[in-house]
Amino acid sequence: MSIIFHEGSKTFHLFNEEISYIICVLSNGHIGNLYFGKKIHDREDFSYLIESKQRPMTACVYEGNRKYSLEHLKLEYPVYGTSDYRNPAVEILQENGSRISEFKYISHEITDGKPELAGLPATYVEEPEEAQTLCLRLKDEVTGIVLELLYSIFSGKGILARSARFINEGIAPVHLLNAMSLSLDLPDSDYVWMQFSGVWARERHIIERKLEQGIQAVGSIRGNSSHEHNPFIVLRRPSTTETSGEVMGFSLIYSGNHRMQAEVDTHNTTRVTTGINPQNFDWKLDCGESFQTPEAVVVFSNQGLNGMSQTFHKLYQKRLVRGYWRDRPRPVLNNNWEATYFDFTEDRLVEIAAKAKECGVELFVLDDGWFGKRSNDYTGLGDWVANKERLPFGIKGLADRIEEMGMKFGLWFEPEMVNKDSDLYRAHPDWILHAPQRASCHGRNQYVLDFSRKEVVDCIYDMMYKILSESKISYIKWDMNRSITECYSVALPADRQGEVFHRYILGVYNLYDRLTTAFPQILFESCASGGGRFDPGMLYYAPQGWISDDTDAAERVRIQYGTSMCYPISSMGSHVSVVPNHQLNRITSLHTRANVAYFGTFGYELDLNKLTDEEIAEVKAQIVFMKEYRELIQFGNFYRLKSPFDGNETVWMTVSEDKRKALVFWYRERNVVNAEFTRVRLQGLDPDLIYKNEYNGTENYGDELMNLGLLTTDVTAGEPTNEDLPCTDYESRIYVLTAE
Ligand code: DGJ
Repeated sequence: MSIIFHEGSKTFHLFNEEISYIICVLSNGHIGNLYFGKKIHDREDFSYLIESKQRPMTACVYEGNRKYSLEHLKLEYPVYGTSDYRNPAVEILQENGSRISEFKYISHEITDGKPELAGLPATYVEEPEEAQTLCLRLKDEVTGIVLELLYSIFSGKGILARSARFINEGIAPVHLLNAMSLSLDLPDSDYVWMQFSGVWARERHIIERKLEQGIQAVGSIRGNSSHEHNPFIVLRRPSTTETSGEVMGFSLIYSGNHRMQAEVDTHNTTRVTTGINPQNFDWKLDCGESFQTPEAVVVFSNQGLNGMSQTFHKLYQKRLVRGYWRDRPRPVLNNNWEATYFDFTEDRLVEIAAKAKECGVELFVLDDGWFGKRSNDYTGLGDWVANKERLPFGIKGLADRIEEMGMKFGLWFEPEMVNKDSDLYRAHPDWILHAPQRASCHGRNQYVLDFSRKEVVDCIYDMMYKILSESKISYIKWDMNRSITECYSVALPADRQGEVFHRYILGVYNLYDRLTTAFPQILFESCASGGGRFDPGMLYYAPQGWISDDTDAAERVRIQYGTSMCYPISSMGSHVSVVPNHQLNRITSLHTRANVAYFGTFGYELDLNKLTDEEIAEVKAQIVFMKEYRELIQFGNFYRLKSPFDGNETVWMTVSEDKRKALVFWYRERNVVNAEFTRVRLQGLDPDLIYKNEYNGTENYGDELMNLGLLTTDVTAGEPTNEDLPCTDYESRIYVLTAE
């Protein structure tokens, strides 16, 4: 990995074994993009790639020269208001009302390693040789604003991290109205656009369409990254599959309002921009102040979608997630939410926990309802003290009882919210985000605390700190059950109201940072009504997240499949719940529910006392299985083989680093009468090793399994495999493959 600067042509070549990223200083001082893709040889001068020709109706930069228009150049951080009419990366409102800016190169620095981004989550390195960083310094002479563009290339993999920092070195304040993290111009538009979209309980479904002229974008203006559109998009070549072909993934390490966009102009070039959503964004930059954008990560792979996903998985698992839990397999847990909802006493919880312990569960989690006067969702949020009617000896009393049983104890919080019926709201009614003289919308009867204010974050921190330091708490589920409306802070002046959304999320990050620093061994799981804030920003603080409130196995197959495009298996909170399922009323077998939930952090969201003896025996076996294979599942190399979005069967697998162990998950939605014979070609095995299939005792070389395929034909094709299992809808299997 290296970053080379060619002085003569003012060209920067960032490359490693997989990718080349080539940019240069253009003649007008702007930065141009020359190439991004598979690694190519270096050369002194790539300026033959600067294509500029005279075209009719084009606005040009130099007087007397009709060939130089920004409209037709590939730019790195395009500005608003000159000869480029595509969407800009930056727009700055100045004192005189002008929004025009012109950032020109002044200097650069190349350093080993990768700097932290103040107050923001970002990827990191542990050793300086893991990455190199180019910092380009540009300046807008009229305003005196300095722009630093950061590019970090990681060794070995096709990963580039980008962000931008604005420093006001001028003599007047300005307003940043748009400040993207990444802008990238690609020379053609022959791509399929993929987005990961949905809604509550149906998150991150894969939606694809051919990239077309015009703008295609997803985003959020809800204050959280949202159930609706994840801050992750993919551009793949039309011929790219899961296992082959070129693909680029763009991921934004941010949990607030985002926009992920691709604009194709009428000459079929593509401009990708990702960053904070400019809608409602207006950051006042006073003289001497600076503004740092979130980090965007782009991954290039020429080994298909699986190649891209594996790169994201390893990067986010090892160099975004931090701390004690980063490399540790996650505890099997039992959460009481779907077991009791708000209706519990301490003894009832202990009863549930005792059965969980008997089955092998390691962590008991008390969800919503333990604090203030919380007996339904109208009351209590904001009062983070135990409800003594339910928990006579407080959280400490319950935590001690759970610990005495030999389990760890975990607790639910929703730190950012308040109910009007709470002591906190009664004491500080102006602490919610609200616009003066206007009504405020509620969501689930709750209001959003103004986390842009330090005193609000401090108060919540103090309450949480007290509980966490008094009791033995090993896990926190941090929930967030509504999006933001009336985003106005009474603590900020009129000309800073456009900062509130971003300041809010900085407040959330600040609280996370303080808590994870004070309690480094607590495992945090983020949650926002399921997967409403499942994003890389959260992963920096919370190594796992509750990916959806939908615990139905059939729905989860889709949600987990879509989520796996960017996020590692170790990050996906996934539990077995009761049937009929509480979200869909669907009935699936206990083994299918577990087979799906294994591919995540695994746990139970039910009262195990309500299961039959036979089911309890099955649960015990499931937990033994998960404990044996969780390291492989959570940290192995994951491959998607058959998509639930394409057909009746879903198959994925995970392979250990040494390739001696693999687990294959097979799932069929609808039973098929007199079905075809089916095989699935596996991936990632050692062709020369013989793998024993524990499901049916067969032995095959890796090359057989990868080329002929694993036979998945079942009873409907006349081949009974396991007579104990009725072959029905929502059927699934796990194949354990082991090579000696
Ligand atoms: C929404 C979460 O996604 C659920 O798992 C549960 O914690 C509830 N909130 C509690 O109110």
